Amino acid sequence: MKYSSSWRFTGRCLVFIILFSSSAILRSQDHGLAQKPPMGWNSWYGDLCQVTDAMIRAQADAMVRNGMKALGYEYVNIDDCWQGKRDARGVIHGDKNFPDMKGLADYIHSKGLKFGLYSSPGPLTCGRREGSYGHEELDAQTYAAWGVDFLKYDWCSGGEVYKPEQMQAAYRKMGDALKRTGRPILYSLCQYGLEKVWTWAPSVGGNMWRTTGDLDYNYDRVSLVGFQQDGLERFAGPGHWNDPDMLLVGLKKITEDENRTQMSLWCLLAAPLLASADLNTISPASLAILTNAEVIAVDQDAAGIQGHRVSEEGPLDVWAKPLADGSKAVGLFNRGEGPSPVTVNFKNLGLKKAAAVRDLWGAKDLGTFQDSFTANVPMRGGVLVRIK
Ligand code: GLA
Repeated sequence: MKYSSSWRFTGRCLVFIILFSSSAILRSQDHGLAQKPPMGWNSWYGDLCQVTDAMIRAQADAMVRNGMKALGYEYVNIDDCWQGKRDARGVIHGDKNFPDMKGLADYIHSKGLKFGLYSSPGPLTCGRREGSYGHEELDAQTYAAWGVDFLKYDWCSGGEVYKPEQMQAAYRKMGDALKRTGRPILYSLCQYGLEKVWTWAPSVGGNMWRTTGDLDYNYDRVSLVGFQQDGLERFAGPGHWNDPDMLLVGLKKITEDENRTQMSLWCLLAAPLLASADLNTISPASLAILTNAEVIAVDQDAAGIQGHRVSEEGPLDVWAKPLADGSKAVGLFNRGEGPSPVTVNFKNLGLKKAAAVRDLWGAKDLGTFQDSFTANVPMRGGVLVRIK
C-alpha cells in the first residue's frame, strides 16, 4: 500500500505526539524530590536504639528554634529501632516508644518539616527489628498512610535471603512500591556501596545511596571515607546523590577543626547534609558549623555538581566544586598531624592568572591573588573559599 506525502506527514506527527506525551507521563511519575542534596537530621549516631517519640519531637522543635529549618534542614528521620510487631494482617506498628506514628508525622509536618523512616529489604534490620522482606507493598502503603516523606532502606539481613546479584531487584521492589503509593517519598539506599550502587541506584528509584560503610564516631573514618569519594562525581546530580554517611558535627570526641573539615568536604561533595548530634544539647560552636549559610550554599548550589580532587601532596589535599555562577568552591585540607600551608594553583582550576578569593567560614573577601592562593590550615583542618 502506498501513502501520500500528507499521510506520511500526519503519521510522523502522531509518532512525535505519542513519544512526547509518554515521556511527559514518565516525567510526571518522577516525584521531583531531592533536586538539591537532602538536608535534615537522623537519630542513629545520637540515640542508637534508645530512640523515642518524645526525642524525635524534641529534635524537630530544636531544628525550628535554632535556625536550621530556616537554612534548609527539613527531614527529621528516625533510623533503626522504631519497629514493633506486625499485626494479624501483617501491618507493621511502632514499638512501645512509638505508640502513634501518624500522630508523630502530623506533629513534624505541623512544624513545616518532613518525616523520615527506616527499614530493610531483609527480614530483620541491623538492630534485629522487623524488616520489610515479604511485606514491601504493605509497608510502603503503611508509611504513606502515616505521612512518611523519606525512607532509608538498609541492606542488613538482606544477604540472608538474597544473592548479591538480586540486590538491585530487592531495592527496585521497594522503589516501585513507594511509587505506587502516589505519595512523594524520598528513597535513600543504604548498602554501604556494594555492587557499585552508584551505577544503578537511580534506575531503581533511589534519590541517594550510601557509598561506604558507617563513619561510626571518629574523625579517622570521616577522613578515610570523605577523601575516598573522588571519581564518583559523575554519578551525582539533581534527584540522585552519593551519600558518604551522616554529619558527625557536634558528636563528642571530634574537634571543631575536624568538624569544619567534614562540613567543608561534604558540601564540596554535594552530599546530603543529615546532622546526627542532639540538637538540644549541641554546642554553639558545632551549631555554627552546621548553620553557616555560605558553606551550605556550596552544597545546595543550583548547578548540582559534585566536586572532585584537584591535587594531593602527602597529607595536603585540594578539592574543587564548580558553581552555577562560574566560580569555584575550593577546599584546602590538611590531613596531617601539625599545621601546614596549603596551596591551590589557579591553573589547576582552569582559572585566569588573577582571581578574587572569599573565605566562606569567615564570610570575608580576602582580595585578589595572582596564580595561586595559600592558606595556613590547622592539623586535620580545612579552609573553604570561593574563587572567581
Ligand atoms: C547500619 C547503617 C547505619 C544505621 C544502622 C542501624 O549500620 O549503615 O547508618 O542505620 O545500620 O542499625
